[in-house]
Amino acid sequence: MIIVAILAAGRGTRMKSDLPKVLHSLGGLKLIERVLESARPLAPSRQMVIVGHQAELVKAAMQSIQSLEFVEQTVQLGTGHAIQQLLPYLEDYTGDLLVLSGDVPLLRTETLKQLLQIHQEHQNAATILTAHLSDPKGYGRVFCNAENIVQQIIEDRDCTPDQKQNCRVNAGIYCFRWQDLAKVLPHLQTHNAQKEYYLPDAVSQLSPVMAVDLQDYQEILGINDRLQLATAYEILQRRIKEKWMTAGVTLIDPASITIDDTVELQPDVIIEPQTHLRGNTVIHTGSRIGPGSLIENSQLGENVKVLYSVVTDSIVQAGTRIGPYAHLRSHVEVGAGCRVGNFVELKNTLLGDKTNVAHLSYLGDTTAGIRVNIGAGTITANYDGANKHPTKIGDRTATGANSVLVSPITLGDDVYVAAGSTITEDVPDDCLVIARTRQVLKPDWRKKKSGE
Ligand code: UD1
Ligand code: CA
Repeated sequence: MIIVAILAAGRGTRMKSDLPKVLHSLGGLKLIERVLESARPLAPSRQMVIVGHQAELVKAAMQSIQSLEFVEQTVQLGTGHAIQQLLPYLEDYTGDLLVLSGDVPLLRTETLKQLLQIHQEHQNAATILTAHLSDPKGYGRVFCNAENIVQQIIEDRDCTPDQKQNCRVNAGIYCFRWQDLAKVLPHLQTHNAQKEYYLPDAVSQLSPVMAVDLQDYQEILGINDRLQLATAYEILQRRIKEKWMTAGVTLIDPASITIDDTVELQPDVIIEPQTHLRGNTVIHTGSRIGPGSLIENSQLGENVKVLYSVVTDSIVQAGTRIGPYAHLRSHVEVGAGCRVGNFVELKNTLLGDKTNVAHLSYLGDTTAGIRVNIGAGTITANYDGANKHPTKIGDRTATGANSVLVSPITLGDDVYVAAGSTITEDVPDDCLVIARTRQVLKPDWRKKKSGE
């Protein structure tokens, strides 16, 4: 049995931010969400988040995540003190406790599984993650005997110059046999440079404690400032891109592309340069996105093409072409085999299959049927200064260039709107509607004007 505890009470001073550190976003997820995600497949019986600094903000941001328990550490007297706060909640608990840091977001689930497995196999009192770093500055140093049994962990600030030469660092990720830890926790002292209760001191008092070396040291990167946040983002991007390329996605100039790890791509998707895929986006096979596009929280069907465009909160069905320079936003649904072209903005709009909006249009709060042709420069006037109104356009209807559809308005099936019309009243099926003044011709105008 395993309980997960996440340390998230610290200040995060070096972020220089009003936002609590663990709520900073990394590739579409908050730091603490990433930590939780990495532990979720272990199926912990409880997930306890230790909060303190800006506790209310952290709690509010995590409210939607089910089965989290918050434990308050009202003053932050160190990592050992943070774990002491669990004592009253886990009095009769006889299983293991996995301790994670809210600011170490790149850990892989496999790494945690391996840690647990070694811990249980060897029946250790504690098992800790370690890594050999070329620049171990700032990390606690781990001293082991020849059998890889931990003797001592000494914080960077408390190390002698000699001890600082040890490059084996404490990742801050621990698995404890809870009953053993619970016995030593009340006896922690603050005889150290920071005058804090250190969790690593508890580790030093347990036996046996084993150290497990990380294969990929990047996993333990802790986020203490914005530079480390950017470094973590780079590492994450490399991981995500490698995953999709291995799965059969082509990335052209990967360095110029960013992909959130909430995105899903099918094989034979091609992503062109300067393209950014965010949020809950799914792109089906054969689609080609970019160059220069942003797709956020959107579903794109098979063989969709998007060129230099922005698509957010939208659904685009198979074979549709978007762009260049189109903008689809807030609840747009475009059917199959459509074309949404140059300088077209769609908002809260539904287009049936094989409908085209090829040039210079704005459609807002509009429902259009199948095989509709929206002429160049057609605009829905959907806003009267106070409210938005709907526009309905029937199947096979065509609007001429530069039409204005003043909503609320309904155009039936097979309607033709003459170019340059301003339509203010509903139009039944099968009509040609012309709503513009007739052209007036005045012959010999120049001569008359000059009185010749
Ligand atoms: C800690 C370890 C160090 C290890 C490093 C790895 C200690 C004393 N040192 O150092 O050996 O190499 O992590 O990243 O544990 N926190 C609380 N309450 C507190 C203090 C901290 O919840 O009273 C939380 C912080 O919010 C953070 C985590 O504990 O999420 C680690 O604290 P931090 O101050 O960043 O420890 P480090 O100095 O990085
Ligand atoms: Ca830290």
